[in-house]
Amino acid sequence: MNVLVTGGAGYIGSHAVRELIRAGHTVTVLDNLSTGHRAAVDSRAHFVQGDTGDAVMVERLLVDRRIEAVLHFAAFIEVGESVQDPDKYYRNNFASPLALLGAMRAADVRKIVFSSTAAVYGNPVRVPIQEDDVRAPINPYGRSKMMTEMAIEDASKAYGLGYAILRYFNVAGASPDGTIGEAHEPESHLIPRILMAAREGRAVGIFGTDYATPDGTCIRDYIHVVDLVNAHILALEKIEEGRDAVYNLGSEKGFSVREVIDACRAATGLDIRAEEHPRRPGDPDRLIASSSRVRALGWEPQYPDMTTIISHAWKWHQTHPRGYKS
Ligand SMILES: NC(=O)c1ccc[n+]([C@@H]2O[C@H](COP(=O)([O-])OP(=O)(O)OC[C@H]3O[C@@H](n4cnc5c(N)ncnc54)[C@H](O)[C@@H]3O)[C@@H](O)[C@H]2O)c1
Repeated sequence: MNVLVTGGAGYIGSHAVRELIRAGHTVTVLDNLSTGHRAAVDSRAHFVQGDTGDAVMVERLLVDRRIEAVLHFAAFIEVGESVQDPDKYYRNNFASPLALLGAMRAADVRKIVFSSTAAVYGNPVRVPIQEDDVRAPINPYGRSKMMTEMAIEDASKAYGLGYAILRYFNVAGASPDGTIGEAHEPESHLIPRILMAAREGRAVGIFGTDYATPDGTCIRDYIHVVDLVNAHILALEKIEEGRDAVYNLGSEKGFSVREVIDACRAATGLDIRAEEHPRRPGDPDRLIASSSRVRALGWEPQYPDMTTIISHAWKWHQTHPRGYKS
């Protein structure tokens, strides 16, 4: 299939580009490089530097490249920043996708795979979280993603758009060969923060030790980035017009912050120091996905265990101490 990957120079998008090419798809990447890295984009993909909010340019690109489906990763991802500057998030994570959907309609591109997030559930009503559970996001980031989900669902009903909405839990790891990986600035995700602290001999912060969990720290569900992007390829190939397709992407297993730090100590052989801090606002006790829906599609994770996830991330961090500037 001829596919457009928006945000293909970012962490998850760059892994998706590689796996899509491996699966035989022809890939065009659209990325404005606001947080992404040109060097992360596979050289076999056609790269265009531009903004998904530029509907005229996007429509032309869709037509020129004969695009049949869009995988929409491009977004801003910092929850804290979204609280400080909601306008930035509603523009890029809602208004830009609306422009993209309009361009797709004008160019008659009828399939989209959308990167959504567990943040749309807010404080979950139950764990494991199921796809039909109520959407009640508690920050502008989660709300901007929920609004885009709704725009896609309505476009499906009104215009026959085929879609898959994928709600990611905590994405981690790197390409097993260590050539592409996670390079966010700032880095707010737990595993890279622990590994960066380990490499630099600093202590890693634990925010909150009084949660209602066995060891008092928050519990999250981790999924290897390669397994995550392979679920996209499966979902893409199964899109049918008019079919509801919302999938959680997680492993159904929860790890506490302390357990992840211990797993990083084991994987790196380093004595990583931890420093305890008060809670941050808005962190639920535990977030764990039910992934039975995506498993029913035929998805099976290749790298389900935490040690493998961390060792792939560690390989990337060791070989790229300054990310793509290395
Ligand atoms: N990383 C996670 O754990 C996680 C969890 C849940 C959901 N997600 C979602 O996955 C997607 C990708 O996340 P990521 O971690 O790879 O982020 P990232 O910042 O590494 O990648 C985002 C990419 O999109 C590009 N981009 C942003 N706005 C753009 C625009 N308007 N036009 C063109 N390009 C634009 C950036 O330059 C960057 O290359 C996002 O939609 C995010 O909300 C990520």
